[in-house]
Amino acid sequence: MAYPNLIDGRAIAEQIHSETAARVQDLRQRGVRPGLAFVRVGEDPASRVYVGMKERACARLGIVSITQVLPDSTTEAELLALIDALNASAEWHGILVQAPLPSHIQSSRVFARVSPLKDVDGFHPENVGKLMLGDPSGFVPCTPGGVQELLIRSKVKTDGAEVVVLGRGDIVGKPMTSILCQKSPQANATVTLCHSRTRHVSEHCRRADVIIAAMGVPEFLKAEMVKPGATVIDVGVNRVPAAGTKDGTKLVGDVDFAGVQPVAGLITPNPGGVGPMTIALLMRNTARAAEMFLAK
Ligand code: GUN
Repeated sequence: MAYPNLIDGRAIAEQIHSETAARVQDLRQRGVRPGLAFVRVGEDPASRVYVGMKERACARLGIVSITQVLPDSTTEAELLALIDALNASAEWHGILVQAPLPSHIQSSRVFARVSPLKDVDGFHPENVGKLMLGDPSGFVPCTPGGVQELLIRSKVKTDGAEVVVLGRGDIVGKPMTSILCQKSPQANATVTLCHSRTRHVSEHCRRADVIIAAMGVPEFLKAEMVKPGATVIDVGVNRVPAAGTKDGTKLVGDVDFAGVQPVAGLITPNPGGVGPMTIALLMRNTARAAEMFLAK
């Protein structure tokens, strides 16, 4: 490994995949073929790539998947009708509507239409509420859930630690904060949520034992904002212009990796950090949805 302080998200995701594969085999022996239905609206290139990666993970683990691709012109009513049909089907235990949706569709109404029992994304208000309340019967969203698993399996103690979450998005920042402030040895953090209107972000960051960057600003977190020895988790995926590449762009995270890596105690590479964990948690949530279906 190039650096001794890298958190290997791919290796940790593989551990979770092997645990999930065993659960899938057990379900199949009991007559249930776990199934995950993807819904993609329009041709957003990043969404195509993400859904493709998730489909391949399903195939590897023995989870059956289907992808419904709808045109950009799909109305909200048509999308809701498709979700109703998937909710009613005994074949699909999990449903994932890939975000972002076209602007004429209200995402919150769509996510609220997915049955909470099939909501493997953890976006339904009932599951959001359960997460906030610390009720483990709900689904935890895959990216913040994956970050918590990375911390646990890398033996990063959050109990009593100062954690800064950068970004207040509904998919990562807000649920990440809910997860890490729970009363549990695997959380118990003092969490500070910084966002675009936060004053003195650097000062908050410099106090932190753990920084989770999820605000979507390319290479925002610089070395001078990080306390030596802190753990740095980069959730960002930003496409920026770059000379000399095939399409004139490259992907960078929310962390200035070259600058921060020598200062950090532990740091996630990007790619190969959080990304594989999101998929691992999605597969685990799907196995759980199928187990819940079997137990009904
Ligand atoms: N778009 C970006 N991240 C996610 C995610 O975790 N789930 C879904 N459905 N869409 C996304």
